[in-house]
Order: sequence, then C-alpha cells, then structure tokens
Amino acid sequence: MNGDGKSVRAPLPRYTPTVEWTGTALRLLDQRLLPGRVRHIVCGTVDELCDAIRTLAVRGAPAIGIAAAYGAVLAALESPPGEGFAERVSALLDRIASTRPTAVNLFSSIASQRRILSVCQGREEAVAALAEGAGRLVEEDLEASAAMGREGARLLPGRCSILTHCNAGGLATAGLGTALAVAYEAFEQGLLERVYADETRPLLQGARLTAWELSRRGIPVTVLPDSAAATVLSGGLVAAVFTGADRIAANGDTANKIGTFPLALAARAAGVPFYIVAPLTTFDPKCPDGGSIPVEQRPRGEVEFSGRRRMTPRGVDIFNPAFDITPEALISAIVCEKGVLRKPFRDGIAELTP
Ligand code: MRU
Repeated sequence: MNGDGKSVRAPLPRYTPTVEWTGTALRLLDQRLLPGRVRHIVCGTVDELCDAIRTLAVRGAPAIGIAAAYGAVLAALESPPGEGFAERVSALLDRIASTRPTAVNLFSSIASQRRILSVCQGREEAVAALAEGAGRLVEEDLEASAAMGREGARLLPGRCSILTHCNAGGLATAGLGTALAVAYEAFEQGLLERVYADETRPLLQGARLTAWELSRRGIPVTVLPDSAAATVLSGGLVAAVFTGADRIAANGDTANKIGTFPLALAARAAGVPFYIVAPLTTFDPKCPDGGSIPVEQRPRGEVEFSGRRRMTPRGVDIFNPAFDITPEALISAIVCEKGVLRKPFRDGIAELTP
C-alpha cells in the first residue's frame, strides 16, 4: 500500500534467461522439462547445440536465432586455427542451419555471423567478434520485445482478456517475448484481465510454457484444448487474439505453430481481431508468399505417444507438421518494433525490410 491507501504493484520481472553465454559455452533453460523441472543444460559443442535446437530444449524463432548466433562462437572455438579456419567454421554453421527449416531467425542470424566471420583475421578475433555479434542480437531482441509490447497493448479496446497460441513469450526470445510482451505490458497498465492459452498439441508449448511463464508473473491464465478456441472466441470471452510468428512472407502470409491458421479462421468467423506480433528479424521478404515458406515435419512419435503411453494404434500413418501458414487476409494487423502494420501488408513490409 502507498500513502493514499492504494495498492502498489511491484515491478514485474520481465526477463526469462532462456539463453545465456558463459564465455565458453551456451547455458539453456531446458524447455523440454518445463513446467515440472526448471533445469539448465550446457552446450559446449556445435553438436550439442544442434541436438538442443532439434529436440526443442531451446525453441521459438528469436531464441533459436540467438542460440544459433552463439553457436557460431562455439563453431569458432572448436575449429583449429590456421589455414582453412573460416571454411571449417562455415561448415559447422551449415550444420546448425540444418536443424530446423521454418523459423527464418535461424538463417538470418547465421548469415549475419557469416558476415562478421568474413572480415576477421584468425580465431581469436573471430571468437570475440562473433560473441559480440550474438550479444548485440540479444540486446536488440529485448528492445524489440519491449517496443512490440507497447505497440500491441495500444490495440486493446480497454480492460479485456486475450487468446494466444503456442509460446511467444520470454522463453521463445531473449527474455520478454512477442505476443506475450503485449500481455506483460497490458497487465502492467491494468488493461489485461486474463490470457487464454491454447494447449498447443502435440508438444503443449501453450499448456507447459505459456502457462508457466504467465503464472509465475502473477498473470491469470486459463489453458484450453486447442479445439475449445472457437468456443472461447464465439462466446465473447476475449477481445483479441495475439500470436507470434516463425516467418512472415513479403505479402504478410505468416508461418506459426500448427493450429494458428484454424485459430485465425475461427477469429474471423467470430469477428474477433487476429494480431501477429513479431520482430523484423522474423520477416522474410525473399519469400513472396506463404507458399514458399518451408514447413517442418516433426517425428511421428510426437503424435503417437503421450509420454511413454501409446495414443494411436501401431502402424497407422501420422501427419505432424510443426507449423501452418495463415493467409494475410485473415490477419487484422502485424505488430513489430517499428509499429503496427495494416493492410496492404506488402507495402509496409517492403518499407521496413529493404
Ligand atoms: O516449434 P516451436 O516451439 O519452436 O514453435 C514456436 C512458435 O511457433 C512460436 O509461436 C514462434 O516461434 C514465435 S516465438 C516469439
């Protein structure tokens, strides 16, 4: 309480240290174990990092990009110096780039580290410059998140609840989030009542991760099966949908976690605005539209089993795309660190991503 008898809210902890550089290795909050166990793993080699990205110990487009940028430092550290050093590092960067195909942040951060590598003389200089490059990415991502939070919160019509899909929070970025940065900002401003979080089958990033990070910050969260989202929308329980993105094409078509597209269809049917929140690092002007975004297919075991328990008869075919493409026509606006893009998205995207 303050002197006027009004309650004073403590400042929110805004930072989830998902990816940390120790000076010689990458320390990752192991997202495979959340919410049951809060445990870190240490990746000291490129192979260990590739395994962590592939198995989703680290996940979410910006966090993958940051992990890959530090992967370039690991690549420089484990490549013998001398003639052929840059080529050896480059081959290890190719290995990191082959881990997951959809989130463009992985490729843009590797491209940016390659540019740094190309002007370095020798291993020592490369290690220092690549570590600095990765650190810059972390700072820029945190700044972008804070700006997106402010921009996105302005879209709320007043105190209300919102719906989100997958995890686009601190865990998926350098520490604050994209769609959830909006939730954090709105909550601080007293505008947010509650977040409805789709559980996000099959790997449950919504139930496990979004609910974990929101609830530990005291934000009311209701987890629902993905199939209940249309009921929430048509029942008037939320004023808007906010999701993140893994890649945004030049026309605004957006790849995000599987289940985003049907959510956008349901939002359109219910007359609820559907917003994408993503930093400019997630835009890919080289993809003209969603049809040219590669969509990752994940292992069948993710659908066949829940933990150790078999959920499907042995031998049946499984379809397990990790992402889907939401056509730009279903997106009300795209929030990035530079502001809110409205239709036609193509113009705004071209202006911001020369
Ligand atoms: O397979 P994941 O967990 O890496 O998928 C993550 C998502 O789809 C997120 O919504 C997206 O990366 C945006 S994160 C700010």
